[in-house]
Order: sequence, then C-alpha cells, then structure tokens
Amino acid sequence: MNVSLSPYGFSSTEPSPVNRMMTAFAGDYRDGFDINLGIGYVNEKTIPADLLTQAMRAVASDPATYRQAFNYGGPAGSPNLICSIRDFLLGHHIGGLDAATLDRLQLIIGPCGATSILDALAEVLAPGIVVTSDPNYYIYSDTLERKGFRILAVPEDSEGPRLDTLEQKLDALGGGVNDISFFYAVTVNNPSCTILSNPRRRALLDVASRLSRRQNRRIPIFYDLAYELLLHDPAAPPFRSVLPDDGLGIAYEIGTLSKVLAPGLRIGYLLGPGGPFMNAMVQKTSDTGFSAPLFVQEMASYLLDHHIADQLRAVNAGYREKALAVRAGIEQHLGPHLDACIGGSAGFYFYLTFKETRTEPGSPFFNRLAHPANSTLPKVIYVPGQYCVHPRGDLAELGLRQLRLSYGFEDTPRILHALSLMRGAIAE
Ligand SMILES: Cc1ncc(COP(=O)(O)O)c(C=O)c1O
Repeated sequence: MNVSLSPYGFSSTEPSPVNRMMTAFAGDYRDGFDINLGIGYVNEKTIPADLLTQAMRAVASDPATYRQAFNYGGPAGSPNLICSIRDFLLGHHIGGLDAATLDRLQLIIGPCGATSILDALAEVLAPGIVVTSDPNYYIYSDTLERKGFRILAVPEDSEGPRLDTLEQKLDALGGGVNDISFFYAVTVNNPSCTILSNPRRRALLDVASRLSRRQNRRIPIFYDLAYELLLHDPAAPPFRSVLPDDGLGIAYEIGTLSKVLAPGLRIGYLLGPGGPFMNAMVQKTSDTGFSAPLFVQEMASYLLDHHIADQLRAVNAGYREKALAVRAGIEQHLGPHLDACIGGSAGFYFYLTFKETRTEPGSPFFNRLAHPANSTLPKVIYVPGQYCVHPRGDLAELGLRQLRLSYGFEDTPRILHALSLMRGAIAE
C-alpha cells in the first residue's frame, strides 16, 4: 500500500544522484582528515560568531527598535531589514544601483534564504521552459525539473551564456518559444564561477525584453546574485545591475546574506518591480512559514547597519588569498593534464576541464580519490562535471572530463594536499 503522491512528491522520493554521492561521502567522513572539495559551504572562519552574539543581544535588549522580535513576522519581511538592505545596496554601490531605482522597486525577504525564493518562483510562475547557462546551478535545475519545468541550457563562454547559441536555441524552439517561463542567470555562476559580464548581463535582458514584446506578455528574467558580494579580484570590473534599464519591468535580482555573513541566518531577498507577481511571492512566503524568523531578520538588519563593511573586507581578503594559493596549486599539480581552469576572481569555486581524465563516479580517478587503497590517506571528494552540466545538453560529453572544486570550506593546506592526491590519482 502506497501513499498517493503528487507528481512533485513522486519525483522527489529518491535523492538526486549528486545528493546520494554527497550523503555517501558524509556518512563515513573523518573530520579533519578526509577532504571535502565538493561541498558548497562557506569557510567557517568567515562566519562572525562574536558579531552574531552581539547582534542577538542588541535585538533582545532594544524592543523599541526591534519590535516583538520573537513573535511572528509579516510575510513581506521585516521593515528594519528591508531598510537596511536598501541602505547597504546604495551605500556600497552594489550593482551601481541609484536611489531612484531602489525607490521604484519592491524588496521582499524570503522565508528561508535565496533558495526559498528560487523554490517559490517554481510555484508562482506558470510551468514551462527555463532558459539558463550550461554548466548551470544543478541544485536548482533539479528542483525545477522535479516541478515539471524544462531546462534550456545555453553553453557559456568567458562572459556567460553565449548569445549566438542562445539565439539558435530559441529559433530551434519554433512555436515552443511561447512556452518560456523565465530566464535564470547566475551572475557568478555556480559551478563555474564565470562572471556574467556587464554587456552580457544587459544583452540577456534585451533578449527577454524582445521576446516579451513579441509575445505581448512579461517574461521575467531573474539574476541570482548569490556570489556577487564575493568579488575578490581587484582587477575585475564592478558589477552593473540592469534594474535601472529595465523598461518593461521584467528584471529581478535575488540576493543572499549567506556567503558574506552566515548561511545559517537563511536570509535571502528579491528585488524587482511590484505587481501581481510580487504579491504572489509574498503570499507564498506566508503560505510557507509566515516569514523568515523575525529575530534573525532583525539580527541581520543590525549587522548590516553596523558591521558589514569590515565583514565584507575580511571575507573577501580571505577568499582572495585562498584563490591565489589554490590556483598556483592547480597549476603545479594538475597543469599539464588540464584543458581549462576557470574561476578564481569571485565566489569560491574553480571549474576544471581535463584533457583526458574522466571524473564521473565510477571512473578510476573518482574511485581512487573517494576510496583510497590505503586508509592512511584521506578521501577526497569533488563535484563531478557530469552533475554540473545539463544531462541532455550540449556539454553532456564534456562534463565527463570536468569537475567543480570548492576552495570555500576546507583550509588551504588541505586543499593543496588534495590536489597532490589528484595528481597521484591521474598518474596511476
Ligand atoms: C547560485 C546560488 N543561488 C542560491 C544559493 C542559495 O543561497 P541561500 O543560502 O540564500 O539559500 C546558492 C548556494 O550555494 C547558490 O550557489
């Protein structure tokens, strides 16, 4: 006898292959010994534990500013936090946003990080085709497919999804172009950490605008800024938001405090034009859990108001140093075996393409690292490219020679050790 499941419930009964792989690794992971280059966790040292304690005290001891902080919150988000995020975006020139644009747009807080906003899109928007990059944020692509959406994955070059390929794929859709639900662009891509260039960012808006006009409906484009605050390469140009140029009112930005403060806060926001879609997103927050925990929103507000400048500096200085050391380690240990190594300017992933080495689970390279012959050697795990590219997309074959390596969670010496083990695995 089975429980009757919805199509979504049914497709969610089995964990995705990448989740199965990570769970298997976590099951017998030896803390401080095995090396996890697969996990997308931030580095523990970047989480300001003392400031979080201070923020909690500040909120609890000031009920005039942080009203009823331990009660239910409103579904659009804490007014304090909304105000703090706006001030932060403006004060730190994030995306070059100006006050007039921010005043014109609505900012709402999701119930549980940016992830809950991404999830809500799939509830609120009509199912159809989602246009995104390849490789793509595989966790979300998997969610979307389980919810009945189809992924149109456009291979990226050094600036983001290729425009010529995008146009070819749109043409190839024929009448199916009317089934596009939304565009989803990650501005520092996960897994590749390719930075979506400012011209490409704008060009994607132009494509979505053109299709919207042609179809006489608004086709939204969501820019996921998850890693945008982690731009640590001083040579990289600052990001430029397209929100001021969005004549049709179709562009939205999704931000998170996870990468620069703490993922455990679970604070994510959506910024874009108000209207029926935004109203539905607010209602969805209410349906999910009324609001993100109010006292946590107030803590985040306090932290943004008082400490974010120093925190951003410290976090980015740490990742910059790691990026340079890990890049040098990649060159030293894997250089001759690589076709490409991208990333290292923002976020905390490198994305490697090997000349010949296969990386998928079951390949000798993967097995050698995940199950070393000798128990005195640490196990090493990474995210195989097979999971990062769309399984039915143009890069499916290439993905078998790729991997995502995170330099976020583990400390540099352990990452360098893992790279030397990778060299050994290739040599064998
Ligand atoms: C591209 C991207 N979007 C969103 C998220 C999730 O952010 P949050 O912690 O706010 O849910 C991540 C997390 O790694 C991510 O890589």
